[in-house]
Amino acid sequence: MTIKPTNLVAPVWLARIATVMLLAGIGVSVARAADPELVVGPNACAECHKKEATIWQRTHHFTTFRDLPNNKDADAIAEKMGVKRLKSESLCLNCHFTTQAPDKVIAGISCESCHSGAKDWVKVHSGFSGKKEGQETKAEIAERWEKSEAAGMIRPTNYYALAKNCLTCHVVPNEKLVNVGGHAAGSSFELVSWSQGEIRHNVWFNKGASNPEASQARKRMLFVVGRVVELEAALIGVSKATAKDTYALKMATRADVARKAVAALANVLPNAPELKAIADVGQGAGLKLNNEAELVAAAGKVSELGQKFSKGYDGSGFAAVDQYIPGADKYKGQVSN
Ligand code: HEC
Ligand code: HEC
Ligand code: HEC
Ligand code: HEC
Repeated sequence: MTIKPTNLVAPVWLARIATVMLLAGIGVSVARAADPELVVGPNACAECHKKEATIWQRTHHFTTFRDLPNNKDADAIAEKMGVKRLKSESLCLNCHFTTQAPDKVIAGISCESCHSGAKDWVKVHSGFSGKKEGQETKAEIAERWEKSEAAGMIRPTNYYALAKNCLTCHVVPNEKLVNVGGHAAGSSFELVSWSQGEIRHNVWFNKGASNPEASQARKRMLFVVGRVVELEAALIGVSKATAKDTYALKMATRADVARKAVAALANVLPNAPELKAIADVGQGAGLKLNNEAELVAAAGKVSELGQKFSKGYDGSGFAAVDQYIPGADKYKGQVSN
């Protein structure tokens, strides 16, 4: 069975976005959480991935579960938004918590917030095709991962899906939440520095012996794909702007910075023509109020080209971007060992 990249990603995204739209009741939001119907919960992962769970418990993604409800800023935002209880309001739940169906809030941002709701893939990804570890044929291994991804699993090898997932929370495409609620319009996110600090949990395939950072080639891919996805997310962000206020200004600035960054990367990586095409789409996008149709179309084009780029390269020929990649001193938070 061959699964095309577009098949792999699109239905899952669409299904999730649709779910979140229903949950949120706020129309065209792109913010999404793991589908509550598919969530098995971090304890289920920890049965096998103990070390990953321990590392996760030291991150802000974990501690926000306890901290956010006691946060004065959260009360202020909630009050301005007319939200009574943080942990029962889907608007906040989508980005700050993990919900399990029907409506149990079980954790902060957890395994499945990043690897996707696992009910349909948890067995297959770990089942070694019904054999003992090491006994599968190459074809069986490939099929096992194809099935896992078709069931929604976000694997570390899918740079685009991985990055997009971070940015559906770390860019906040909700004008009212920013302008009225006073919420940040997003984080000053960059994928290498934000994934290689406290988030880093590269402990499975080396049996927990250490927690090494991503290889140089992988960091290059994370860095470039991260910028492209930033552009996509910011274009969506600008597309929701209707008023000349903080939200519109922040999103337009974000999109402009991102498109310039992609253009600079396209210049140093002429061997990857998708980047030039993405930069051109960015450059042509009208960063103005009430321009939703055009900007959503541009974001879609960036996404399509970005996924092609993500699948088409492994970073080995991209030494020219090393000069831009943040060093270890910029990694966000404390690395766990
Ligand atoms: C029954 C044990 C078990 C459970 C439960 C389990 N995993 Fe795994 N997981 C594995 C095994 C085994 C592998 C490695 C498979 C291999 O070597 O091909 C793996 C690999 C992975 C990988 C790496 C995939 C890749 O692309 O290489 C991720 C990510 C992952 N698991 C996430 C999760 C999450 C999230 C959960 C909970 C929803 C979970 N796992 C639950 C056993 C398990
Ligand atoms: C689209 C995703 C998204 C939504 C929706 C969202 N948040 Fe956030 N929120 C974030 C992100 C990402 C951060 C971290 C921002 C940063 O990097 O500074 C954050 C930060 C915060 C902070 C600062 C927290 C801290 O620990 O520093 C508060 C308070 C907060 N959010 C409250 C809320 C409330 C209340 C709601 C619901 C009314 C809400 N958020 C909805 C994504 C979201
Ligand atoms: C903030 C998002 C996020 C959360 C939360 C998260 N992961 Fe991951 N996971 C990632 C990313 C990103 C990578 C690839 C890291 C890299 O390239 O350095 C990864 C990689 C992995 C791998 C492969 C590790 C290896 O040795 O190569 C496994 C297994 C895994 N995650 C399991 C889990 C489990 C289990 C949990 C919950 C306890 C979890 N993840 C929580 C984002 C996340
Ligand atoms: C479901 C929404 C969601 C997803 C997905 C998500 N994050 Fe977060 N992240 C948040 C929120 C909300 C916070 C703020 C938590 C708090 O209150 O401290 C945060 C905080 C962080 C922090 C700590 C920031 C600080 O100020 O110290 C890092 C680092 C981070 N995220 C990285 C990532 C990376 C890398 C990914 C993707 C691999 C990712 N996040 C995916 C919602 C998310």
